[in-house]
Amino acid sequence: MNAIKKDENVIWHQHQVTKQTRSELKKQKPVVLWFTGLSGAGKSTVAGALESQLASLGYHTYLLDGDNVRHGLCSDLGFSAQDRRENIRRIGELAKLMADAGLIVLSAFISPHRAERQMVRDLLPEGEFVEVFVNAPLEVCEKRDPKGLYKKARAGEIPNFTGIDSEYEAPKNPEIDLPAGDKSLDELVDQCLTVLREKSIIA
Ligand code: ADX
Repeated sequence: MNAIKKDENVIWHQHQVTKQTRSELKKQKPVVLWFTGLSGAGKSTVAGALESQLASLGYHTYLLDGDNVRHGLCSDLGFSAQDRRENIRRIGELAKLMADAGLIVLSAFISPHRAERQMVRDLLPEGEFVEVFVNAPLEVCEKRDPKGLYKKARAGEIPNFTGIDSEYEAPKNPEIDLPAGDKSLDELVDQCLTVLREKSIIA
């Protein structure tokens, strides 16, 4: 069936249990905390540590992580601009469903293009998309090289590697800008918690 016919004939079903019911049961405001940054910047590390803090405060969370999602939901996708776009589109839709379930969603994907991050922002109600720029310079990420991928990319073994031969577009106005090259993990997590409190996302 082509996409137009499907749009005409598939009608959204409004169920009785709503997003509001689900979030009230969880006593929390759903939100998508969208971590973006270069490979090795610390997205998964900071998102994971923040998730632990939120869980210990009693919040219901879920962490979507690039390396994990690419083993399952997006295992058919590579790193061309088109595949990255589809990767982010699927994750955006998934994050939206999880927010609809009433969860605090943390996502850790390079998501190198502004247009794709904006696409996810546009999927969600105002204020429910919080962009977290894990802002570590390329030199720092390359020096850390936790998976040895920069070395391989420099040797020409990984084409389209972000920061090497594929562009990363830094956020222009992220809700949270983390100096991930300088500060400790605890300081970065505290910075996130402070902003979430300022925005009344958490108490
Ligand atoms: S994204 O660009 O589509 O958002 P995603 O976050 O899902 O990327 O996956 C990035 C991870 O895939 C990196 O942390 C790295 O481990 C691995 N990877 C493999 N090939 C590449 C590549 N060409 N560019 C960037 N990351 C890559």
